[in-house]
Amino acid sequence: MTNDTILAKYVQQGIEHLYSGDPTLYGLLYEEYHRQANVLTMVAASSVVDPSVLICDSMVPVNVTAEGYPGARFHAGCKVIDKIEQLAIDRAKEAFGAQYANVQSHSATTANQVVMCRLLKPGDTLLGMELNSGGHLTHGSKASVSGQYFNAIGYGLENHERIDYERVHRLAQEHMPKLIICGTTAYPRIIDFERFREIADEVGAYVLADITHIAGLIIAGLHPSPIDHVHFTTTCTHKQIYGPRGGLIMMGKDYDRPAPDGKGKLFEVVQKGVFPFFQGAPNLNSIAAKAKALGMVLTPEFKERMKRIVADARALARCFMEMGYHVITGGSDNHLVVVDVISNGITGLVAEKALEDCNIVVNKNRIPGDQQSAFITSGIRIGTNSLALKGMGPEEMPMCAELIHRVLSSVRPLDDRTFELDKSVKTSIRAEVAQICKRFPIPCYPYSGESVEKFDGVYGQPMRAVASS
Ligand SMILES: Cc1ncc(COP(=O)(O)O)c(C=O)c1O
Repeated sequence: MTNDTILAKYVQQGIEHLYSGDPTLYGLLYEEYHRQANVLTMVAASSVVDPSVLICDSMVPVNVTAEGYPGARFHAGCKVIDKIEQLAIDRAKEAFGAQYANVQSHSATTANQVVMCRLLKPGDTLLGMELNSGGHLTHGSKASVSGQYFNAIGYGLENHERIDYERVHRLAQEHMPKLIICGTTAYPRIIDFERFREIADEVGAYVLADITHIAGLIIAGLHPSPIDHVHFTTTCTHKQIYGPRGGLIMMGKDYDRPAPDGKGKLFEVVQKGVFPFFQGAPNLNSIAAKAKALGMVLTPEFKERMKRIVADARALARCFMEMGYHVITGGSDNHLVVVDVISNGITGLVAEKALEDCNIVVNKNRIPGDQQSAFITSGIRIGTNSLALKGMGPEEMPMCAELIHRVLSSVRPLDDRTFELDKSVKTSIRAEVAQICKRFPIPCYPYSGESVEKFDGVYGQPMRAVASS
C-alpha cells in the first residue's frame, strides 16, 4: 500500500465496520445523506461541505489531546498537530487579511461568549441587535448567557427595515455599553461596520462583528470587511466557508493594543479566553477540516460561487415581490431573503412545515414587529448558499420561487401550527423537486435514484463493491 491509498483504506474500513457492525446507525446516516440529496434546501444557515472537508473532520487528529496552542502544548505528541493548527491559522489570516486568528472555538456561539465574557463583568452593558430585527440569540437575547449575565440593550431597524444607526448612536450615548455587537442572522443588507466603530469610539466601547452569515461574501470582497474596523470578528465555519461545524475569532489592526484591566494585549484576551477560560483541548480534526475549507476560499471558483449566491438572492427577492409578497427591506444584498407570510394569512411555522412536506426546506423566521413567538413566527428566511453550490443561477430562481408560491397558496391553515394540503399538490411538487435535484445534484453526492418516499433504510447485509468508474 502506498501513501496515497493508505488513508483511503482506513476510511473504507471505517465505512465497512459501521455498515456491518452497526446497521441501525449506518441506516440513519444513509437516510440523512439521502434526504439531503433529494430535497431542495434553501436554509440560509447551512451549506454543503466538500468531501475532502468531511474526511478531514473524521480523521486521525481526533485521537490526539493537545491542550494549549502550537508550540505551547500541555501534552506530548503534538508535533504534527501543531503544523495542522498553524496551517489553519495562517489560512484564516490570509483569507480575511487578519493579524490574529484563533481556530479553536467549537462554535460561533462560543466565539462570541469568549469575547463578551473576557471583556465584560456580569451586569456590564452590551448593545446588540434585537432578535426580531435579525439579530442572533448570542447578541443579548434573554434566552442566552448574553442577555442573562449582562445588561443587554437592543437596537433595531428604521422604517425602511434597515439598521437604525441613529438609534444605535443614541442608545450608545445613553447606556455607555462596554461592547457593541454587530452582525446578524436574518438581515439581507450590507452592514456598515465603520459606522459601528465610530459610534463605539465615541463612547469608549469595543466592537464585535459576528460575520457568521456573510463570511464568504467578505472573503470574496462582495461585502465590506469588518476586520480592521472592529476589535473582534467572529464567525462559524459551517455556513459560507463551507467548512466543518466550528468557530473562528479574528482581529485586525487593533490586535496588539493594550487590553483592559492589565490583561496584556488585546489578542491575549482572546487567546486565553478560548483556552483555558472557555474550552479544554481543541477539536483537532475539526481544525484540520477548517484548514481544508479555508484553503479553498481564495480560488476563482469560490469567488464565482459567492457572486452567484448574491445574484440568486436578488433574483429570488424580485420574484417574490412580483408575486405580491412583502419581502423585508425590498430585496437582498447577500445570501438571504426574508419573506413576510403572515400578510398572506399563514404563519412561518405552517409555511415551513407545508414546504417540508413537499421536500422544500426553508426556515420560519421572525420579521420586524413580529407579534408571533419565535416558535411560530410571521415569516420565512430563504438562503441561496446551497443552491449556488449546486450550480443554480438567477435563471433558476423563478422556478424555485414559483414552487414555494404554489405550496403557500395551496395550504389551508387550521390554526398557527396545523394545516391541510392536498395530496395532489404534494405529489406534483415533490415530483418537480426530484427533477431539480437530478438536474442540479449536490457535487460529489452520488445520486441514488430512489425517491425519498421509496427509501426503506434496510442495512446490515455484506457491502456491495463500489464500481471504480
Ligand atoms: C449571527 C450568528 N452568530 C452565531 C450563530 C451561532 O453559530 P453556532 O451554531 O456555530 O454556535 C449563528 C447561527 O446561526 C448566527 O446566525
